[in-house]
Amino acid sequence: MSDTTVKAIDAIQEAQKIAFAPFVFQATVALRKLGVLDLIFERRKKGGISLKELSEKLSISEYGIGVLLEIAESSNVVSIHEDDKFQLTTTGYFLAYNETVNVNINFTNEVCYKGLFHLVEAVKTGKPEGLKELGQWETIYEGLSQLEPEAQKSWFDFDHHYSDDIFKEALDILFKKERKSIFDIGANTGKFTIQACNYNDQVKMTMIDLPGQLNKAITNVKNKGFQDRVNSHEINWLSENPQIPKGAETIWMCQFLDCFSKSEILKVLKTCVGSMDENSELIIVETFTDRQKFDNAKFILEATSIYFTALANGNSKMYKATEFKDIAAEAGLLIKEDIAVGEYHTMFVFNKN
Ligand SMILES: C[S@@+](CC[C@H](N)C(=O)[O-])C[C@H]1O[C@@H](n2cnc3c(N)ncnc32)[C@H](O)[C@@H]1O
Repeated sequence: MSDTTVKAIDAIQEAQKIAFAPFVFQATVALRKLGVLDLIFERRKKGGISLKELSEKLSISEYGIGVLLEIAESSNVVSIHEDDKFQLTTTGYFLAYNETVNVNINFTNEVCYKGLFHLVEAVKTGKPEGLKELGQWETIYEGLSQLEPEAQKSWFDFDHHYSDDIFKEALDILFKKERKSIFDIGANTGKFTIQACNYNDQVKMTMIDLPGQLNKAITNVKNKGFQDRVNSHEINWLSENPQIPKGAETIWMCQFLDCFSKSEILKVLKTCVGSMDENSELIIVETFTDRQKFDNAKFILEATSIYFTALANGNSKMYKATEFKDIAAEAGLLIKEDIAVGEYHTMFVFNKN
């Protein structure tokens, strides 16, 4: 054992927390969904709220709320004060009201929870064995447009939460130089394409994605009135010989390459290089595990890798920046700029080598 400075009693407590982690998670989900955390928070200025009052106000048995609050107290989500009144701890407050925690909980519960049960199988086969809990597809990306509404909302909220905030800063960087056309690879719902059209009234965009996603993105673009400046190109990067249009000026890939294994990333990048000339730029934006300032951000990325293994495709993950640099060099790209964007993202700008 390497951690001999940790007391056995603390180590067993940590081990038991992990053994029952799904119980604590589901109890937390229940406390959120039943409105218990909200009601406790509303009563914070009155010293909290008792179990009896919670039960009366929410019309749920004292037994039901009681078992949830017992484990929540041991897990430092709530605390008990004078007259047996419950209050939220700071952790409880974040579980109820922090936006990042909120999208992570919903994503875990609505998209991943059942599928994670198949993780062992997924690791053995290299296939997303948990995906069958959501639908019959080879990868989750083929099924995104067909997910059940709650799972679909949670997936897109999770996805958008980690990229929307940096689009403005990224566009400021991108349009420091003139850009006539951008290929938006992994265009998803068209959010970046629409934002780029809003930002610059000359730029022409080409959205590149799987057919299901592309249809949704095209509808969104039309709804914003940008159809004259936006083309679309269907692709499945996992097919035999995927092709993108020739003559790329700027290729944009945000949180896209993490959907693929290293050898698939190499194939994507080589295909892109084939469309570039010496003035073209290929821009990758990612959240890299070795570029995070905070442990909780690195932890989120590691959990996201488990989602990729069990549910998304069985063979991708959140990577280190160093790994991407190596693959890009092998694909024939030369790194020109390495820029931190927002708190968590890195932007690499490449030329053809
Ligand atoms: C995580 S989303 C990123 C969306 C967006 N670029 C952003 O920054 O939020 C990944 C995108 O890659 C697309 N994608 C995944 N696998 C693909 C494949 N095999 N072929 C084409 N597109 C794929 C998905 O449909 C999805 O739109």
